[in-house]
Amino acid sequence: MKSVIVKNLLGLRNWVDERFPLMQLWNEHVGQYYAPKNFNFWYYFGVLALVVLVIQIVTGIWLVMSYKPDANVAFASVEYIMRDVEWGWLIRYMHSTGASFFFIVIYLHMFRGIMYGSYQKPRELLWILGMCLYLALMAEAFFGYLLPWGQMSYWGAQVIISLFGAIPFVGETLSLWIRGDYVVSDITLNRFFAFHVIALPFAIAGLVVLHILALHHVGSNNPDGIDIKANKNAQGKPVDGIPFHPYYTTKDAPAVVALLILMAVVIFFAPEMGGYFLEHNNFVPADPLKTPEHIAPVWYFTPFYSILRANTVNFFMVPAKLWGVIFMGLGTMVFFLLPWLDKGKVRSIRYRGWIYKTALGLFVVSFLILGYLGLLPPTPARTALAQVCTVIYFLFFLLMPFYTKWDKTKPVPERVT
Ligand code: HEM
Repeated sequence: MKSVIVKNLLGLRNWVDERFPLMQLWNEHVGQYYAPKNFNFWYYFGVLALVVLVIQIVTGIWLVMSYKPDANVAFASVEYIMRDVEWGWLIRYMHSTGASFFFIVIYLHMFRGIMYGSYQKPRELLWILGMCLYLALMAEAFFGYLLPWGQMSYWGAQVIISLFGAIPFVGETLSLWIRGDYVVSDITLNRFFAFHVIALPFAIAGLVVLHILALHHVGSNNPDGIDIKANKNAQGKPVDGIPFHPYYTTKDAPAVVALLILMAVVIFFAPEMGGYFLEHNNFVPADPLKTPEHIAPVWYFTPFYSILRANTVNFFMVPAKLWGVIFMGLGTMVFFLLPWLDKGKVRSIRYRGWIYKTALGLFVVSFLILGYLGLLPPTPARTALAQVCTVIYFLFFLLMPFYTKWDKTKPVPERVT
């Protein structure tokens, strides 16, 4: 009986294969994709990002079935999902928790890329596509955050859109154009909804395909930063490589289960995560006449928000607010330049010297402090600390061409360790 089913399935596969390159695609990207055999913990996050993306898309589709993008009923429709729709609370908490997990996973994924020099030649375009994904994810999160139409949704959007007003000459017109109104309103909600559920998910899905194609064209880097294609056996396969399937599919599976368990713990026991994943003020319906005392973005934006607020002096006839917008923009965009700023002779942190390791350590610490400060209301002492961290943040990039060149590196082994 079983063999009949298998025979039929194989027959179906062959039928498809004669009409579509199914097995060719499978072999190229999974079955015969040779990945370095020394992948470690840090190499889980690409696959985990894919898993979270699927969770966000699926839960998003189910949320849209009951959500209403209308300023008069948006807040109530989310409450309806939470209280009346069967399993609605679960779907909503999966989506809100998924958003924060997406950024945790992506920040770790990007950090891995920096640590092992995965952006260096020949992976520059792969890195650029990753950065485009990062920007698209930030836009996706920003648009999505307006949809529940709570106080933080409303005033967060108001603050961020009004930042564009700081741009000389065109600023006011630009923010009016983005909002579609003089204040954030139903019109803004409708267009943000369109971007959140259609435009950006398409862009993200397309970028992910390009990201993986670029990765598989040049091959994966690894914790040693060695080019495994340089060492091939008689069959032309890299001696330090193993097929992605079954070796990495089975290695990644427990990591996926661990991620799902962690997500479940948050969803079932602390869905608001103390106000970090779902802010308390967002359980209050949006009120255009009542500005909250303290407006802060969700945690994944706060390092950049801190950089914005750290600019407090008017300089060269440019107002502090505009400097803030400029530095906040530069703070995100500067990652695009990493492949060209890094002049190191080795890729991986394993073979770099103490200068690079110190620089990276200081950068990570200042990024975390900036993130923390961005959650708090500003005081003179906090602003001063944010200014110091902002300087360290930018020096990491600005001085990179010099310290990566001068740093004493260790010899890289011929084969992976
Ligand atoms: C939706 C977002 C993303 C998804 C689904 C995704 C997916 C993946 C996957 C599946 C891999 C191969 C497995 C791995 O190396 O972990 C990978 C590799 C990589 N990704 Fe991403 N990625 C995303 C965003 C980003 C971002 C934001 C960056 C950086 C700005 C980035 C940079 C890289 C690099 C450099 C590699 C190659 C790493 C290496 O071979 O050492 N990715 N990505």
